[in-house]
Amino acid sequence: MQKQTQCWRVKESKEGKSLRDHPGIQKAAAMIREGRLVAFPTETVYGLGADATSGEAVTSIFQAKGRPSDNPLIVHIAGADQLDELVSEVPSTGKQLIRRFWPGPLTVILRHRGTVAPPVTAGLDTLGVRVPSHPVALALLREAQRPVAAPSANRSGKPSPTQAEHVWYDLSGRIDALLDGGPTGVGVESTVVDVTREVPVLLRPGGVTLDMIRETVGEIRVDPGIRREGRAPRSPGMKYRHYAPRGELWVVGGSGKDQMQKVQALADQARREGRKVGILTTDEHREAYRAEWVFSCGRRSEPETVARGLYGCLRRFDEVGAEWIVAEAFPPTGVFFSVMNRLMKAAEGQVLSSGEERKA
Ligand code: TXA
Ligand code: MG
Repeated sequence: MQKQTQCWRVKESKEGKSLRDHPGIQKAAAMIREGRLVAFPTETVYGLGADATSGEAVTSIFQAKGRPSDNPLIVHIAGADQLDELVSEVPSTGKQLIRRFWPGPLTVILRHRGTVAPPVTAGLDTLGVRVPSHPVALALLREAQRPVAAPSANRSGKPSPTQAEHVWYDLSGRIDALLDGGPTGVGVESTVVDVTREVPVLLRPGGVTLDMIRETVGEIRVDPGIRREGRAPRSPGMKYRHYAPRGELWVVGGSGKDQMQKVQALADQARREGRKVGILTTDEHREAYRAEWVFSCGRRSEPETVARGLYGCLRRFDEVGAEWIVAEAFPPTGVFFSVMNRLMKAAEGQVLSSGEERKA
């Protein structure tokens, strides 16, 4: 069913006027309470929110996105004091992580109490919860006075939206409202950590790095699915092709000159085969490449900028109609660990180390 999508620009005013009084926030919060769909900015990516206690509202999220129903949603709350109504128990590792990283890009998996609508959890006995730090998200959550289930506000399989325009492109006519808060800051989704285990398990790398988690709780295991050891990932959403541009994406490993030569060679080979080719790189290397499109997603020397720019770059290749995209791999540490996780999923494992050849 075609919907009329309303859009409000919501920026923090300099006079310190509370965002909660903003007419856009007020209307959007009322819509959430009525069971409607509202996209809003978080510090990671834009989310598509609905009242987590309404089965009908939550079901319409899956429909709008075209999302498989076995992929559970993250519930967003305004503060940790709302946890009691949702989950039965918060283990001490969970408490430590929450104290350090909320509000912020961390989702914790906890055992729920059955108070959210069943489609949120896709039948699991656990629930992902987070308190976002974006002022617009927080204002909306406070005014809505409901826990808000919100996946990323993209059509299923597409890169997550880091700008309101991305949401509009994917979902206008399918959702009730969009709060435009400008570009998001982190650029990749929240880190998902299962704290129901004796030793916490990383299910999805994200804005909070492994090192930061280790500093807080000591030990953390990385779900084998993340490192692609041939096992099904425990975070249901990680098994789908994701974050993917329309063109075929190849990621080239290695570093320095070797890597750059291989990237250029692969791009040239695809061009000779008659394809429209783009190269995904960073500011430092942009000038060195030759291809129909060379896009930089940030500065290699500042990994946060790469995370922020990655999804927008993948979407730009769609806009220009790139059929073949060659991307440089990054060393998988710090924020680059999350960037590489998303790139590898977008490439569906099409990764060349710098010595390898692509079979034609
Ligand atoms: O940064 C974010 O987390 C964004 C913003 C909007 O908050 N949201 C987001 O949601 O990325 P989504 O639905 O695109 O990704 C949620 C991830 C999926 O991989 C899902 O499988 C996993 O979290 N997840 C949710 N509940 C889970 C559970 N109970 N157990 C394991 N994984 C869960
Ligand atoms: Mg998503």
